[in-house]
Amino acid sequence: MKQIKLKLDKRSYPISINSDFGNLAYQLKKLNLPNKAIIVTMESLDKLYRVDLIDILDKGGFNVFIEVIPDSESSKSLSQLNISINNITRHIGSEPFFLIAFGGGVVGDLSGFIASIYKRGVRYVQIPTTLLAQVDSSIGGKVGIDLETGKNLVGAFYQPELVYSNISILKTLPDRELQSGMAEVIKYGVIKDRGLFELTESLAAREEDTLFNKIKPGIEEIVHKCSLIKSSVVSRDEKDSHGIRAILNFGHTVGHAIEAASNYSESYTHGEAISIGMLCAVEVSNKLKITKEDILTRLESLLGFYNLPVVMTGINTDRVISAFWYDKKFIKGTPRMVLPVKIGNVKIIDDISMDVVKEVIKGRTR
Ligand SMILES: NC(=O)c1ccc[n+]([C@@H]2O[C@H](COP(=O)([O-])OP(=O)(O)OC[C@H]3O[C@@H](n4cnc5c(N)ncnc54)[C@H](O)[C@@H]3O)[C@@H](O)[C@H]2O)c1
Repeated sequence: MKQIKLKLDKRSYPISINSDFGNLAYQLKKLNLPNKAIIVTMESLDKLYRVDLIDILDKGGFNVFIEVIPDSESSKSLSQLNISINNITRHIGSEPFFLIAFGGGVVGDLSGFIASIYKRGVRYVQIPTTLLAQVDSSIGGKVGIDLETGKNLVGAFYQPELVYSNISILKTLPDRELQSGMAEVIKYGVIKDRGLFELTESLAAREEDTLFNKIKPGIEEIVHKCSLIKSSVVSRDEKDSHGIRAILNFGHTVGHAIEAASNYSESYTHGEAISIGMLCAVEVSNKLKITKEDILTRLESLLGFYNLPVVMTGINTDRVISAFWYDKKFIKGTPRMVLPVKIGNVKIIDDISMDVVKEVIKGRTR
């Protein structure tokens, strides 16, 4: 077991990285939570883990109710929020309770948002079950839902009291989701940790029957290193207001534009869009002569090893460019990107020429 403390004065909390759920009840008990727990989870996870989870929490003296939501990004919606909050109210009445978000980023974002608004705030913990959620979305308190007019438009900053990552749960995660999580891991390597980047390179070269087995020897170190980076960034810039948290957006400016241009469909997962977005950012960095070593060749081959896309196909380039432009106008007025100098070191650059961005996006389209 490895433990990190995310430092935020009175709202500090532990991030616990484990190889099973053996320690979960003990960690929850230490928080002096109410004994009623509402677990919010997805259908597929409910089928796989309901029995084990109830057993563990039962033995720990907790009284559990499970709120199951559909397996889809569309669960991060006003309508699902309404359904889940009413289910919780019907079940719980006026008794004190705490929430457990048991799932990937969708469950985490929705449950955290429910926790932030229900009766003006209830206590909650995150048990992330995807690689993306373990290394990113469960840490830092950004919670919220999507609207028809855009993703993550309604939300809050609301910190959990514990993040409990069990790395062995990633064994049942579909390969495409695991690959997507690896895109975020590689992102952390480029922005802050050359050693982490090299670890992902050495794992990629391993011959194994499944992706999980390929990364297994390094997975604890991966989740630990990424959690350390995320928690250190969040503790210095909790609300994304000092320009520090912005470095986490490496690959995300173009990545978000790809997701928007494909209408957040199944064509590109978040991690797949980020994969292409990171390569675009490196190319912009090369064109602006910010890069001090050949990152492009190394990054492109690494992403390929993890079966992540390195070019866009079946997507209208003009739509990507206008989504990029719309996003930038919406945020600051000029294109701003996180650009790598070396592996492990990035800079935030403002006023990037749209012509350079367009050329790079077009070059990455087939
Ligand atoms: N709050 C943040 O800081 C933040 C950061 C990044 C992304 N996000 C959000 O995260 C969401 C994406 O999250 P995600 O990539 O984790 O996807 P997800 O939550 O949609 O989960 C992907 C799929 O995998 C299944 N699954 C999850 N864990 C499993 C397991 N261990 N075994 C078997 N199946 C499992 C889920 O049921 C789901 O069908 C997006 O909505 C995005 O906006 C939030």
